Amino acid sequence: AQVEKGNHRHFMEKEIYEQPEVVSHTLAHYVDFTAGKVRNIAPDLNFSAIDSIKIAACGTAFYAGQIGKYWLERYARLPVEIDVASEFRYREMPLPGNQAALFVSQSGETADTLASLRYCKEHGLKIGAIVNVRESTIAREADVVFPTLAGPEIGVASTKAFTCQLATFAALAIAAGRARGTLIADEEANMVRALSEAPRIASSVLNTIQPQLENLSRELSRYRNVLYLGRGTNYTLAMEGALKLKEISYIHAEGYAAGELKHGPIALIDENMPVIVIAPYDRHYEKTMSNMQEVAARGGRIIFVTDENGAAAATLDTMATITLPNVDELMMPLIFTLPIQLIAYHTAVFMGTDVDQPRNLAKSVTVE
Ligand code: G6P
Repeated sequence: AQVEKGNHRHFMEKEIYEQPEVVSHTLAHYVDFTAGKVRNIAPDLNFSAIDSIKIAACGTAFYAGQIGKYWLERYARLPVEIDVASEFRYREMPLPGNQAALFVSQSGETADTLASLRYCKEHGLKIGAIVNVRESTIAREADVVFPTLAGPEIGVASTKAFTCQLATFAALAIAAGRARGTLIADEEANMVRALSEAPRIASSVLNTIQPQLENLSRELSRYRNVLYLGRGTNYTLAMEGALKLKEISYIHAEGYAAGELKHGPIALIDENMPVIVIAPYDRHYEKTMSNMQEVAARGGRIIFVTDENGAAAATLDTMATITLPNVDELMMPLIFTLPIQLIAYHTAVFMGTDVDQPRNLAKSVTVE
C-alpha cells in the first residue's frame, strides 16, 4: 500500500507525530505492562552467559546503539563496545570468548552494517539485529531479530525508527539486567512503569511545543553554525541533533560532550554561534550548567532544552528555554529527542530545503 502524508506537509513531520503510537506498539511487543515485566525476549542471546556485546550501525541507528550501550552498561553491567559500521568492519578486531553482537538498522540493508554482521558471524558470535524492515537482508542473516514496529519510514532523516530503536534497547537492557541479576523485580517494575508512560508524555509534548520551536527555528535559520552539547545519553542526543540539522537544513552543526567544550569548541563561541544545551535536572545538571556559564561568558547564544526542575534551577539568560515535563531517567532520550527533531524539521522548512529528500543523501545506503 502507498504511504500518504495525510495532513502533514512532509513525511518527516508525519513520522515525528506518529511516534507516540509506534513507540507504544513497539513497547507492547517487548513489555508485559500488566505483569510489570519485560517478556522473555532474548533467550538465544543468553545475557547471563556473555561477557560483553559489540554493536555496529550507521547514522541515526548508530546513535540509538550508543544510548543502548549506556543502558546495557548501567542497568545490566554488561560491557558494550560500539562503533560505526564503516570502521567496525575493517578494524580486524579480535572477537574472543563469550560475546554477542547487535546490529541496528532501519532498512536492514545498509552495506557497512551488513558487512559488520557477517564479520561477527564468521567469528562465531551470536547475532542480534534491531531492524524495522522485517524481510530485509540483515533481518534474514541475524540469529535473533528484534523488530521495531515503526511502520514504513519515508523521510530520509530517521525519526520514528530511532525512538522505536530506543524503546527496543530499553526493553533489552531490562531483560539483560534481569538475566544478569543486576536488576531486582521492583526495579524492573518501576522501569516498566516509566516506559508505559512514554507514549502519553510524548504525545503531550508534541501537542504543546510546536509554536515555540517554530519561532526558535526561524531564528536558527539565520545562523551558519550550531553547536549541541549534552552529557550522558544527552551527549548522544547532541550528536543526533547536529546530524539531523545538518542533513536537512544544511546548516553546519556539531554535537559535543559538554565536558569536552573546553578541549576545543569553546574557541568557536561568540554571538554568531547558537549553542543548544540538552540538560534535564539529572545527576549531570550542575556540571552542564557550569559549561553553559562558560558559553554565556563568551557571548554564545544558549538554547536550553531542559525539564521543569531544570528550568526552575537555571540561573542564566538564554535565547530560548524549552521546558519538557520531568520524566524518569530511562524515558528521557525518548522524550528529549522530540524537540531536537522538531528544531531540525522547522529550521529546514524555513531554509526551504527538500526536507524528505535532502540533497546528496539516500534513505538506505547500499554502497560502501
Ligand atoms: C542513511 C539514512 C539515515 C540512517 C542511516 C542508517 O544515512 O539517511 O537516516 O540513519 O542511513 O540507515 P539504516 O537503514 O541502517 O538504519
